[in-house]
Amino acid sequence: TGGVTTIDPGYKNTGSCESGITFLDGEKGILRYRGYSIEELAEKADFLEVAYLLIFGELPTAAQLNKFDKDIKEESHVDEDMKKILDGFPKSAHPMGVLSSLTSALIAFNPGSVDVASEEAMYNAIVKIMAKFPVLAAWTMRKRKSLPLDYGDNSLGYVENIHKMMFSRPNKTYEPNRIVNDALDKLLILHADHEQNCSTSTVRIVGSSHAGLFASLSAGISALWGPLHGGANQAVIEMLEAIKADGGDTAKYINKAKDKDDPFRLMGFGHRVYKNFDPRAKIIKKSAEEVLGNLGIEDPVLDIAKGLASVALEDDYFVKRKLYPNVDFYSGIIYRSLGIPTEMFTVMFALGRLPGWIAQWREMRLRKEPIGRPRQIYVGENLRSFVKVEDR
Ligand code: SDX
Repeated sequence: TGGVTTIDPGYKNTGSCESGITFLDGEKGILRYRGYSIEELAEKADFLEVAYLLIFGELPTAAQLNKFDKDIKEESHVDEDMKKILDGFPKSAHPMGVLSSLTSALIAFNPGSVDVASEEAMYNAIVKIMAKFPVLAAWTMRKRKSLPLDYGDNSLGYVENIHKMMFSRPNKTYEPNRIVNDALDKLLILHADHEQNCSTSTVRIVGSSHAGLFASLSAGISALWGPLHGGANQAVIEMLEAIKADGGDTAKYINKAKDKDDPFRLMGFGHRVYKNFDPRAKIIKKSAEEVLGNLGIEDPVLDIAKGLASVALEDDYFVKRKLYPNVDFYSGIIYRSLGIPTEMFTVMFALGRLPGWIAQWREMRLRKEPIGRPRQIYVGENLRSFVKVEDR
């Protein structure tokens, strides 16, 4: 229509794909991993179970979960020379840039993770990255804080160990905290997969060239870093802090977001697919109130967030455009209450999304999908002849 040429619908791999991993209905606000509702998984499962479900398609038996956990723990060491790469970064480097680089650098120390022709080689690459990625993620935070690197404690659970590697301090016994662990576990589950979002599509298309799992993940981390995608959780807190510094004048920021001449957007609002509420945002909002209550924290930023949301949800501009709070709107408030620095919020998103990226990469490889090659609608010049520079 309108002179636009349609691409042959049969053209393979035009950027969309068939997948049996995550189902979401943007109109009804439904999100399911392998057929299980996100509400049920967030309430009843733990993150490692959900990771297994996403990657292998079924909830694990106790024996399968124990083996997965054991295989991951056996791979939780990181080559000492990786520290030299980390040391090359300035302390001011953004953790997402460091994490993307370290994930790619892992290939050099695990060459067998590239050519994963067999399911066994694929499984080995998967447990390696499930084990080493949290270590590297925690290292990015410790580097910024000039803290000695921590290799974790295999007697802890997967999520507990992430928190320990981030927050352990020399000469102090690390004390696990159930409230903190449960909050983190739920957040990571809620971020674990979201069908063909920007970073997952990146992982699939890079993986489709058979560049290997780690290289595909490194590309996905870079895509997630953007403020329109995973970087939004950091941008939300920066926005809420600005509103707080501005005397809590939410109306001013709502008007800025509506002003077409102002590039400001209400971060944490809107979604490419959800044109109704984001089911994850509903759960995270409730969890934020519980966690702050359980930890006895009064955070004015949560009140500002709730105030901003309630005004926006009554405002014609946002209602007409079907703009609702998304997964990033409240998540940062919980991360903050757990003492996680703002610049680490998107790293937390990546830690949650890791099993989803892995699952989508594995599905694409097992289905033997061809190399990704989206087509275009050409809107440039027609054929014309060269003109010599002196005649131009
Ligand atoms: C994630 O895809 C996924 O699944 C991603 C994710 C996942 O789990 O992987 O869910 C995670 O990335 C969530 C989104 C996080 N990003 C943000 O919160 C950044 C702020 N949001 C926007 O930039 C925007 O809403 C997007 C990028 C999320 C969605 O963009 P769309 O659907 O392409 O919307 P659009 O740019 O076409 O905007 C439609 C209209 C425009 O106005 P008009 O031109 O029609 O007048 O809505 C306006 C936009 O200006 N609009 C906003 C707005 N988002 C859209 N106006 C103010 N504030 C906003 N946040």
